[in-house]
Amino acid sequence: MLNIVVMVSGGGTNLQAVIDAINKGKITNTTITGVISSKPDVYALTRAKENDIPCCSISKKSYMDAESYHQALLKALSNYQPDLIVLAGYLPIVPVVLIEKYRNKIINIHPSLIPSFCGTGCYGIHVHEAVLARGVKITGATVHFVDEGTDTGPILLQKAVMVENGDTPQELQQRVMEEAEWILLPKAIDAIANNRVVHENKAVWIAE
Ligand code: GRF
Repeated sequence: MLNIVVMVSGGGTNLQAVIDAINKGKITNTTITGVISSKPDVYALTRAKENDIPCCSISKKSYMDAESYHQALLKALSNYQPDLIVLAGYLPIVPVVLIEKYRNKIINIHPSLIPSFCGTGCYGIHVHEAVLARGVKITGATVHFVDEGTDTGPILLQKAVMVENGDTPQELQQRVMEEAEWILLPKAIDAIANNRVVHENKAVWIAE
C-alpha cells in the first residue's frame, strides 16, 4: 500500500481528482494519509475534511525562522508517514531538507509542457497568461519528480491541450486542468503505487 501525502495551496481540484480516482478504483494500492496546506483557509482543506483525510496547515509566516518552519513541515510529514509526496497546486518552494529526506519521492503537477512556461514566478494562472501572450497553439500539463530546482526534475508524464482562439487565461486553465492535470496526476500515482515507473539515468517513464 502506497501512503501518499498531498500538499496544497488552493482550491484542491487536483486533490479531488486523486480522491475520486481512488474511490473509483482508477488508482489502486494507495491511501491518502494526510493533506498539508500552505494556507489555513483554502477549499482544499474542506475537501480533505469532507473525505475524512487528516489535514493541517503549515504557513511559513507563522514561524519565527526557516529552521522552525522546516521542522514543522518535517514533523507533519513524519506523522503521515508518506511513501510519496504529491505537490498539487502547492505554491511554496520545497525546502532542500525535505527534498533530501524524500529524494525521488516527491512529484509535482505543473500546468504547462515543461520546459516551456515554467520556473520561478511561472505558476497557476500566470502560466496560462504567458502561453496566451506568446501565442502558442498547443500547451498542456506535466508530472515530474521534484529536485532542488524549480520544475527541473525528471519528467514522468505529459499531455497536450489545444489553445483555442479567444481563450481567456481562466478558460485555458480550466481546459488544461480538465483535459490534462486531472488525468495525469492519478495516472502517475497509480503507476508509482504499482511499481510501473522505470528510472534510467536522468530519464523516467511508465512501463505499460
Ligand atoms: C491550478 O492553476 C493548477 O493548474 C495548478 O495549481 C493551481 C491550483 O490547483 N496545478 P488546485 O485546484 O488547487 O489543484
